[in-house]
Amino acid sequence: MNDSITLRRPDDWHLHLRDGAMLAAVAPHSAGFGRAIIMPNLVPPVVTGAQAAAYRDRVLAALPEGSALDPQMTLYLTDGTDPADVVAAHRAGIIRAVKLYPAGATTNSASGVTDFDRVRPVLEAMADAGIPLCVHGEVTDPDVDIFDREAVFIDRVLDPLRRRTPRLRVVMEHVTTSEGVAYARSGGDDLGATITTHHLVINRNAILAGGIRPHYYCLPVAKRESHRQALREAATSGEARFFLGTDSAPHADSAKLQPCGCAGCFTAPNTMSILAHVFEEQGALDRLEGFASLNGAAFYGLPPNEARIRLIRRDQPVQYPRTIAAGDETVTLFEPGHPLYWHLEDA
Ligand code: DOR
Ligand code: ZN
Repeated sequence: MNDSITLRRPDDWHLHLRDGAMLAAVAPHSAGFGRAIIMPNLVPPVVTGAQAAAYRDRVLAALPEGSALDPQMTLYLTDGTDPADVVAAHRAGIIRAVKLYPAGATTNSASGVTDFDRVRPVLEAMADAGIPLCVHGEVTDPDVDIFDREAVFIDRVLDPLRRRTPRLRVVMEHVTTSEGVAYARSGGDDLGATITTHHLVINRNAILAGGIRPHYYCLPVAKRESHRQALREAATSGEARFFLGTDSAPHADSAKLQPCGCAGCFTAPNTMSILAHVFEEQGALDRLEGFASLNGAAFYGLPPNEARIRLIRRDQPVQYPRTIAAGDETVTLFEPGHPLYWHLEDA
């Protein structure tokens, strides 16, 4: 059995860092990643290039001295997004991608897209400029069962959108279903898909069986076991289209532990230990570097990170805290349900 592996420094192609006291608390936990796509769903959202530049400065200020993290900013697509502002922000090196949230699909998505025809000029301009669209792929139709919303989105929205704007580069964010995996495979190198750490670990039983567990509630919601297996197979397949986007999404415990609690799992601190565990279980440790450190960079047209990290399997499990402090609040770490033996070190 391997007891140590060395990887190029990983990247996180989907990360929520928030703002203010929460940003200060959580940013250091992603400081060991190379690049990270920073989600724009603040309140209010990051919708202009100027706002993205200002947010980037706040992110950099929250990172500890010596941090490796190079934040890759995104704009939040709205019905009113100006194509010229998007292209200018990309040309100026302020943004890496644009995020599409269907209005109402998830946390802080009220300003998202309500009418896909209205954003066509933006999508055309992005296709021309080679700016990727990161898609939260769930319909918001209340008549669609929450466990079907990803598959229905692919048929009703994503596939028609890609046919209408065929040169647009698209990332299916946090795929959670075998349908999502299959659709990602139907595309060329213009289509990528991120997979989260937590969706490789939990199925929907974790949320609902034996009591309701808000810390496992996220969106898209975890599906049945066969879908988790499809995600594990995809992540460990070695296919370049699949790469890590943790969707680490911290919320104060006071906001999660409510009659109507927030969606999101906070996986930034223990992601690499969990992934090593999962890839080891799948007999695919040799493919972890592709998933976490190479494939996403290639999709975004960036070189892999030069620095290396080492994961060492020790007899004693890593001791992660159960919670971290964020201002006056606490944030609970994602708990995978078993000890983690892979310790992360800079190589
Ligand atoms: O679980 C989630 N939390 N899914 C999302 O899409 C958004 C995120 C958040 O911002 O909390
Ligand atoms: Zn997210």
